[in-house]
Amino acid sequence: MKTSIAVATTAQALAIANVAAEALSAHIDAGSPRARRILAAGGAFAAIADNQVVGFVSNFITRDARGGRRLELDLLGVSPAWQGRGIGARLVGRSLQAARESEATTVRALVRCDNVAMQRICSRQGFERSVHASQLWISQARKPAAKARGMTAARIIAVETLTYSGYWLEGELSQGAIDDARRLLRAHPERSLIGAVVPVLDRIRIDLLRANSFAPMGDFHWWTLRL
Ligand SMILES: CC(C)(COP(=O)(O)OP(=O)(O)OC[C@H]1O[C@@H](n2cnc3c(N)ncnc32)[C@H](O)[C@@H]1OP(=O)(O)O)[C@@H](O)C(=O)NCCC(=O)NCCS
Repeated sequence: MKTSIAVATTAQALAIANVAAEALSAHIDAGSPRARRILAAGGAFAAIADNQVVGFVSNFITRDARGGRRLELDLLGVSPAWQGRGIGARLVGRSLQAARESEATTVRALVRCDNVAMQRICSRQGFERSVHASQLWISQARKPAAKARGMTAARIIAVETLTYSGYWLEGELSQGAIDDARRLLRAHPERSLIGAVVPVLDRIRIDLLRANSFAPMGDFHWWTLRL
């Protein structure tokens, strides 16, 4: 069966949402302006077989701590009936091509520690796995815990994905950084959550996130490819 990979279109939003539900148990609001915006901007690729969407990947660019362009491999899913035929690997390969075309300096993916298929894809493509595992924590609270605490060394990265829009906290996580992100969330009602990824060994930061009612979403490794 011939499978083709192409830039996803807004007309495929519903089909992509169906694959996301099947493969990732993730909800994409196919009719939302955000989904339309992301697809219209060419931020996703679709795998087509039998005239239907059987897989997709959606990516976006953030800046790393040095200001370099970084492609985030954000959501990748292949319908269960089509898994194990090389489609996931091709979707990642097409994303790497897009990263090079956009002059990104790195590509990264946050992969669950038990996701063997994704780890094999990353490893074959030359990604390096972070030495330590990390935990992903998220919060939807908008109220800062404290009054203004001033400067923070963390970076607050606004992200817009097919499943949510919100803020990622990177770098030196502190109460001030969490409060700053919560103020931003309150000022932007269309954004829904704050995410932070911290090494599993960093008990101090994990305690801080827990104290701020962040919820743990599991253990992951960062997989990074330098271009
Ligand atoms: C991860 C996923 C996208 C891979 O797509 P796919 O089309 O099945 O992957 P491929 O056929 O390209 O296979 C990639 C590698 O994983 C291996 N693999 C595939 N399914 C596997 C499984 N269930 N268990 C172990 N290895 C598996 C393949 O053998 C291949 O390894 P190889 O290159 O060494 O032979 C797909 O399994 C999926 O949608 N999973 C659920 C969602 C998900 O985990 N997304 C990624 C989040 S970061």
